[in-house]
Amino acid sequence: MTTAVFPETIEAFAINKTGGIEVLEKMTLPFPKVEPGHLVIKVEWIGVNFIDTYYRQGLYPYSSFPAVLGKETSGEIVALPTDPEVLNNPDFQRMGYQVGGKVAVDFLGTHSTYISVPWIKAYTITHGVSTRIAGAGLVQGLTALSFFEEAYKVKKGDTILVHTIAGGLGLLMAQLGKHLGATVIGTTSTKEKAEIAKAHGADHVILYKEEDTVKRVLEITNGVGVDAVFDGVGKDTFESNFEMLRRKGTLVSVGNASGAVPPMSPLKLLPKNLKLCRPTMNHYIVTPDEAYFYGDKLFEMISAGVLRINIFKEYPFTQEGAQQAQKDLTGGKTTGKLLIKVTQD
Ligand SMILES: NC(=O)c1ccc[n+]([C@@H]2O[C@H](COP(=O)([O-])OP(=O)(O)OC[C@H]3O[C@@H](n4cnc5c(N)ncnc54)[C@H](OP(=O)(O)O)[C@@H]3O)[C@@H](O)[C@H]2O)c1
Repeated sequence: MTTAVFPETIEAFAINKTGGIEVLEKMTLPFPKVEPGHLVIKVEWIGVNFIDTYYRQGLYPYSSFPAVLGKETSGEIVALPTDPEVLNNPDFQRMGYQVGGKVAVDFLGTHSTYISVPWIKAYTITHGVSTRIAGAGLVQGLTALSFFEEAYKVKKGDTILVHTIAGGLGLLMAQLGKHLGATVIGTTSTKEKAEIAKAHGADHVILYKEEDTVKRVLEITNGVGVDAVFDGVGKDTFESNFEMLRRKGTLVSVGNASGAVPPMSPLKLLPKNLKLCRPTMNHYIVTPDEAYFYGDKLFEMISAGVLRINIFKEYPFTQEGAQQAQKDLTGGKTTGKLLIKVTQD
């Protein structure tokens, strides 16, 4: 076997301290350490996620600096693991990795030109999906699929409420909810965003800046409330969710776009026997079977047109491009996915 030769350095979006958008820099850093169980990938596309801004601002901690941002990329495998135990593992072999093959990756610290990641974090792109769409759809797609399966199992006849319905995750939840036979209610800020959400399957979209969300949800559900709420807004919407859930309903706290939810007493769940969970996709998809199941399902559903990945904008691979992408995302103006193009086709 020939040993792969890598460049000495990478170009990466990284921070030396947490803070505002100005701490995000494009840095030249040493090539990452390649472990024997790692795949090395030349990155083509970077998916921008809200979580990148939580890390940049310090809501989620880094243990050391400089810290490379980001948790979603796609590109081409340039080196396979060298550990014979990994190479002979049937779970590894099932993924069909090969040099030159395309993968989408969900792993922290991956917004750079080359990455070295544990093989389990790389999803072989199947079902004819492009590297661009896989890089745009992986994290939010796996989140929608695993949350609708495991946080609350969405089924035919359910009525669900999805906040941030016109966002990257929200548009996928709208489509998946409809596909599973649920009535999907969403909230968003503008009429334009509401139209996009409806075009992706939302049945009712409430303009929370103009309408009373609780009143409208209770009207739509004849006073009963919804089976589940998926709430990516966090601080601003958390309290009102309790008024909109039906007896035995489930509140899935998905994220913190408006800030972290303050601590609460479990007694708050008692009046309607509600369930509350605060999951992350990364703890639903851990084992090789889970990764294979959800990865294959995602690419199959994209390929079949069940899930359309709405790309809001492509940004250049520059410091200004990366800063602008995070600014646009936290500024609440975006609909769908933000992508950064790293290499030319
Ligand atoms: N737990 C997980 O594993 C997981 C995985 C992926 C995403 N998430 C979470 O899901 C949520 C959506 O993520 P996304 O990447 O798809 O983002 P996004 O929904 O495309 O963008 C965020 C949207 O949140 C709304 N928003 C409401 N209050 C806001 C505020 N104070 N500041 C900024 N935005 C506000 C805005 O939409 P409106 O104009 O409609 O209000 C904004 O466009 C985030 O909270 C994210 O952290 C969680």
